[in-house]
Amino acid sequence: TRVAVIGGGANGEHEVSLASARAAASALDPTRYEPVRLTIAQDGSWRIGDKPARLSEAVAALGDCHVALPLVHGAPGEDGTIAALCELAGIPYVGSGVSAGALAMDKHATKLLAASIGLRTAAGALLTRATRDAYAWAGPVVVKPADGGSSRGVTPVREPAALVPALDEAFRWGDRVLAEELITGREIDIAVLETREGVVIGPPLEIRARGFFDYEAKYGAAHESEVAFETPAAITAQQHRRLEQGAVALYRGLGCRGVARLDFFLDERGWVLNEVNTTPGFSPASQVPQMFAAIGIPYPRLLDLLIREALR
Ligand code: DAL
Ligand code: MG
Repeated sequence: TRVAVIGGGANGEHEVSLASARAAASALDPTRYEPVRLTIAQDGSWRIGDKPARLSEAVAALGDCHVALPLVHGAPGEDGTIAALCELAGIPYVGSGVSAGALAMDKHATKLLAASIGLRTAAGALLTRATRDAYAWAGPVVVKPADGGSSRGVTPVREPAALVPALDEAFRWGDRVLAEELITGREIDIAVLETREGVVIGPPLEIRARGFFDYEAKYGAAHESEVAFETPAAITAQQHRRLEQGAVALYRGLGCRGVARLDFFLDERGWVLNEVNTTPGFSPASQVPQMFAAIGIPYPRLLDLLIREALR
């Protein structure tokens, strides 16, 4: 079975997506799968293996595969555009379809949907360049691009003077920016994988970062010393139940497929949805592979499970 492992991407998560794709390609069971690496360079051009290729050649290579494993984090890519390419090429693919990818990439849309199914989200304002000047300081907020990833352009703002630079930074990454009430709570992620046999829910994973879990803390040199994952997170049985119910309801509400990672905060009032990743970080050290490894599904088997599901 030829698997198009699609990585890279023309966005701020390029390196992260390369790491996910590299790891996945080398972990595929070689007796079953032949990986074909398709990579989107930082400038948007394509590579087949290491060779620069025209878009038409890359699409032809995709068309020669039996299934695609899209591992492009961030937009364009995770926002349903890779799924659209696969749909149009008639190639089965792992993970969420066009609308789920697009909805989940949009943190504002995700919050509206989450609120409609009874999940709490951080109160906040959606700003554009036209409306940002009218936004007035009303307390600590986190400022973030509405469709970013890996904390690119995200700044916690604890004093009024820091607001404008934070907005400037966020607008460098996108045209719509959220200013949300700063939640001070524990950061706990959960993964949902629905197959035709049923739903597999990964154990809640708590991120213990020394400071703000930003891009540097996620992937930088200090990653190892600054961040630890605790799996399963120490929460009560009732908190666990609520988390699972909320996560599955939102996964289904968005129409996700394959594995999605849903990121929450836990504060004194309970769960707050932060965001949903339809193409979550996928190197063996990333949260999702760690969660599934913790319940006896090692990384190569997780990949196998996802690919088989896509091929049915
Ligand atoms: N956006 C990064 C890759 C993640 O969610 O893991
Ligand atoms: Mg994300």
